Amino acid sequence: MRAASVLDYRELARRRLPNIFFEYIDGGSYSETTLARNVEDLNAIALRQRVMRDMTSLDMSVEVLGQTLALPVGLAPVGMAGMYARRGEVQAAKAAAAMGAPFCLSTVGVCSVEEVARDAAPPWFQLYMLKDRGYMAELLGRAKAAGCPVLVFTVDLPTPGARYRDLRSGFTGSSGAAAALRQALDGLAHPGWMWDVWAHGRPHSLGCVEGAVAQKGRRVTDFLGWVARNFDRSVTWADLDWVRQTWDGPIVIKGILDVADAREVVRAGAQGLVVSNHGGRQLDGVRSSISALPRIVDAVGGDLDILMDGGVRSGLDVLKALALGAKACLVGRAWAWALGAGGEKAVAQMLNILRAELAVAMILTGCTHARDAGRDLLDPD
Ligand SMILES: Cc1cc2nc3c(=O)[nH]c(=O)nc-3n(C[C@H](O)[C@H](O)[C@H](O)COP(=O)(O)O)c2cc1C
Repeated sequence: MRAASVLDYRELARRRLPNIFFEYIDGGSYSETTLARNVEDLNAIALRQRVMRDMTSLDMSVEVLGQTLALPVGLAPVGMAGMYARRGEVQAAKAAAAMGAPFCLSTVGVCSVEEVARDAAPPWFQLYMLKDRGYMAELLGRAKAAGCPVLVFTVDLPTPGARYRDLRSGFTGSSGAAAALRQALDGLAHPGWMWDVWAHGRPHSLGCVEGAVAQKGRRVTDFLGWVARNFDRSVTWADLDWVRQTWDGPIVIKGILDVADAREVVRAGAQGLVVSNHGGRQLDGVRSSISALPRIVDAVGGDLDILMDGGVRSGLDVLKALALGAKACLVGRAWAWALGAGGEKAVAQMLNILRAELAVAMILTGCTHARDAGRDLLDPD
């Protein structure tokens, strides 16, 4: 099947990846109500069609955190991408760099920040607040030394949400011979993945937290166990001062849904925030990101750069988010599916699809400059 849309990459990834990884990417928490809302609420927004305007020249570039992005889209931090394709973070970062889009490396990426910076380009770096502050400081130093221009500090994961699909698939909570056999059979049923990732994509560690986990007999799940034990639920806004003292570049706070929290982000002196519910993977039942966006833009849009993620599956969705005040969108599953479907080439094609769809949406709404997109692009009724 040739992919024509982002959702086609989902189907291709479903075929190519072992079930545990497909379900890990695809799933949300609890009954996946918020995951569905993210998509449904974007679909429900009507763009306003305008015709007979000269749309010969389109400018999709936007300014975010002092950088010019060629496309108002970035790749959100997604854990363990190196298990979806060989050295997956490097492949995705290359595709993003070729498009002029930022790639944000997850704390729990397979490739280290040094590997991504060396083999692709210095990524934005995403960090969770970990109990081990010494290790965090070391990570921030590594990200700085690797040339990362932006720190994305994720605040909506003081503890992981329950993801039923991961339990059912055996990705979490299973051990012993029966589980190992099931995983081996899952892998063997996907020979393309076995060849690419299992045989040629090693080491299968988490490059940024490698030093924290004992060497002997470790597996990817041992790293995840370490991270899960190290999430810090005592963290408050005061701890952000510590991060600011340790990191002198721009900081973006990811995981804001509430206006009061958005005001705290401004008070804490961050340069940006991401309106996000972690792609519906944390507190199920909360509102969609797109429905939270306008009120946050109204409250603090003049004080810092606002990005959004959650449910973006097309270039039309990107324009809807821009119209509601986001400077740019991040996509999570869209690039993870594409990476799983076909590596760097597929991520590049997926970004091209988003760009082409955005162009059509801009032409038919009469929007010549992405940076000027406003609520007048939406149907008022
Ligand atoms: C498989 C997967 C892994 C993720 N890992 C991380 C992570 O390590 N750090 C983080 O801040 N967000 C993580 N996220 C959340 C994304 O950054 C983003 O908020 C979310 O995917 C956006 O929703 P979307 O997938 O509908 O685009 C992850 C999301 C997925 C789907």
